[in-house]
Amino acid sequence: MKSKKVIQLYQKFVIPCYTQYPLVMAKGKGANVWDVEGKKYLDFFPGWAVSGLGHCPAKVAAAIRKQSKLIFHIPNNYYNQLQGKLAEKLSKLSFGGKCFFCNSGAEANEAAIKLARLYGKDGGRYQIISMKNSFHGRTLATLTLTGQKKIKEGFSPLPEGFKTVPFNDLRAVQKAITKKTVAIFLEPIQGEGGINIIEKEYLFSLRKLCDKKKILLIFDEVQTGMGRTGKFFCYQNFAVIPDIMTLAKTLGGGFPIGALIAKKEIADLMGPGTHASTFGGGPLACAAALAVIEMIEKEGLLKNVKKMGKYLRGKLENLKKKYSFIKGIKGLGLMLGVELEIPCQKIVESCLKKGLLINCTQKKILRIMPPIIVTKKEIDKAINILDKVMEKEK
Ligand SMILES: Cc1ncc(COP(=O)(O)O)c(C=O)c1O
Repeated sequence: MKSKKVIQLYQKFVIPCYTQYPLVMAKGKGANVWDVEGKKYLDFFPGWAVSGLGHCPAKVAAAIRKQSKLIFHIPNNYYNQLQGKLAEKLSKLSFGGKCFFCNSGAEANEAAIKLARLYGKDGGRYQIISMKNSFHGRTLATLTLTGQKKIKEGFSPLPEGFKTVPFNDLRAVQKAITKKTVAIFLEPIQGEGGINIIEKEYLFSLRKLCDKKKILLIFDEVQTGMGRTGKFFCYQNFAVIPDIMTLAKTLGGGFPIGALIAKKEIADLMGPGTHASTFGGGPLACAAALAVIEMIEKEGLLKNVKKMGKYLRGKLENLKKKYSFIKGIKGLGLMLGVELEIPCQKIVESCLKKGLLINCTQKKILRIMPPIIVTKKEIDKAINILDKVMEKEK
């Protein structure tokens, strides 16, 4: 089916929740995707980090194929051989906690909110402090947690017990804490918010403050996790350990899965009947996630992120020297933002026409997050396209 026909079908039958580009994707391999007309694109924003290991990674595909020959779904009132294995792996890679599995980032954060409320129940604590410009999902609780007004508009009344403070502002957190505060919830690097990195000193102080007041520190690593910043989890760059962490996106290498990891003593507050997900931690999703972890470990992908992150950053710094409308380059590893003085939407659209997919967030930040398997050659090609597009903006 040609693009025009596909788009017409959407217009007639699909609820228009998304702003969409006129690109109908047909297939993908590594850092490349092809549209239905056969045009090739270099994907430097693969599925908002879902296809973080590139499209259709062969080992993940093989693991899903192998599992699909045995059984598709095992309900959570029985045991499946892969869920425990995946939980053990994630626990050992992080801070030794226990896992709950679901299907998306919002669901993982929703579970974290519920767990925090269970933790605070006996002391009458339920209030959660989150950060301005954060993004945590689109369910009613996670959009309330999200620190962006536009995400909440039209959905009142919102659930109680959420407060937002400016990011990287310790005084603001101190002032917001009350006797009812149970958790502080944040992304170590705000993705949707414009690639804003957490300050090390601030994070250290937050950890101390949380320990002193028995407040949970929760990291949303839905976008930053699974190698994106050169460590398995972004918090490992800062050596500050959270009490709860959430994951999704790259975790399944394209297959839907979300996870919550909590320190053992907190995790066990979620007993039978407190929370559930019919599809959560199914064998296909766990097979995919185990293959993703194996790929990151065996193929030295964390090293690749550090090397290619530095290379890409250097190339972007060169563009900054050439174009005065570039204010700065920010980010960590392969999670990079190019801050512009001009709106970035037109640049994204021109790149698309020339065969490069990138993202624009907060109107003036180009978000560039290539798959963590990216090569120098692919970076050169992307920079070449970006350079040509920016030349026209001079
Ligand atoms: C940091 C963060 N948290 C949560 C979410 C929500 O994830 P999902 O769309 O899988 O529900 C996103 C999605 O972009 C995200 O970037």
